[in-house]
Amino acid sequence: MKQIHRAVVAGAGTMGPGIAGSLALGGVRTTILSRQASSAAAGLELAQKQLLQLEQNGILSPEQSSKAIGLLEASHEFEAALPGADLVIESIPENMELKQEWIARVEALVAPDTWITSNTSGLSITVMSEKAAHPERIATTHFWNPAHLMPLVEVVRSPSTSSEVVEGLRELLARCGKVPVVVHKDRPGQLGNRMQMAMVREAVHIVAEGIASVEDVDLAASLGFGLRLPAYGIFEHQDLVGITSFQVCDYVTRDLCNEPGAPPLYQSMYQNNALGAEPGKGFHDWSKKDPDAVRGRRDRWVREFLKGPFGATIRPKS
Ligand SMILES: NC(=O)c1ccc[n+]([C@@H]2O[C@H](COP(=O)([O-])OP(=O)(O)OC[C@H]3O[C@@H](n4cnc5c(N)ncnc54)[C@H](O)[C@@H]3O)[C@@H](O)[C@H]2O)c1
Repeated sequence: MKQIHRAVVAGAGTMGPGIAGSLALGGVRTTILSRQASSAAAGLELAQKQLLQLEQNGILSPEQSSKAIGLLEASHEFEAALPGADLVIESIPENMELKQEWIARVEALVAPDTWITSNTSGLSITVMSEKAAHPERIATTHFWNPAHLMPLVEVVRSPSTSSEVVEGLRELLARCGKVPVVVHKDRPGQLGNRMQMAMVREAVHIVAEGIASVEDVDLAASLGFGLRLPAYGIFEHQDLVGITSFQVCDYVTRDLCNEPGAPPLYQSMYQNNALGAEPGKGFHDWSKKDPDAVRGRRDRWVREFLKGPFGATIRPKS
């Protein structure tokens, strides 16, 4: 199996620094690559801050965080940073053309067996790699946001991706303290986002139909089925409840929204520039809510999980 000693993470935005920090925790010397020296430096600073925060919260030992910080660097020089990399992960904007151009640029600078992966949230890796010289070494590694905290990474293969690359990525991610899942068929939304978007569509429909309020939909998800999900999967629940669960599924699904595309209420919010925290109005009224406080609550929750007995089983070990 190919050993990954040196990686490049392209993109120093929301996701890149957390991905780079995770690779460093797995012992990989990692360069955060951005188009400008200042943004590469800011990405490096953020990755270091995230690792120190994990240490301050007792999730990493001081040795683990300092070793990982020592493996991180920043660059804006593509021609210098890419040759010699064993793995290149892109986390640049979600645009197919841009990502295809990126792959062509990387392939011109790295060895034919360098693994190349995309952090796409749902673009087809098959289409992304169709013009590549070596599509067998290309896959998706979809980290969840925030990448330094969330354990899950979806490894999506195209029909051309080699099994060696898929297995190698799975092994590497586990070494980094992540929990990889393999998606064998490249379909929109990959795995998690298919389930999440099925739920979003129904949640919007529930509000549009007047079945329940936005606030109560959020509470039902967080404090009902959502609260037990980290310890108890969807299929474990179905199997343990047995016949009743089948019956509920069979009659409830007949009444669920099956609108293709985002449901009408969501479409009209889009038309009216009401897509959330940024314009100040969305499902919630963001003139009365602080988006950073809500993100902070989310991050605190995940950190508490990682600190606890369940998290201990998935933290990086060395
Ligand atoms: N934000 C999320 O919640 C999230 C979660 C999972 C996956 N993703 C995926 O990760 C990828 C990046 O998302 P993000 O939210 O970090 O984006 P972002 O906009 O925060 O960061 C993108 C980075 O790419 C850089 N960039 C832009 N064009 C470039 C180019 N041509 N070459 C090199 N770098 C370039 C930008 O300067 C920026 O640093 C997308 O594919 C996105 O779908 C995002």
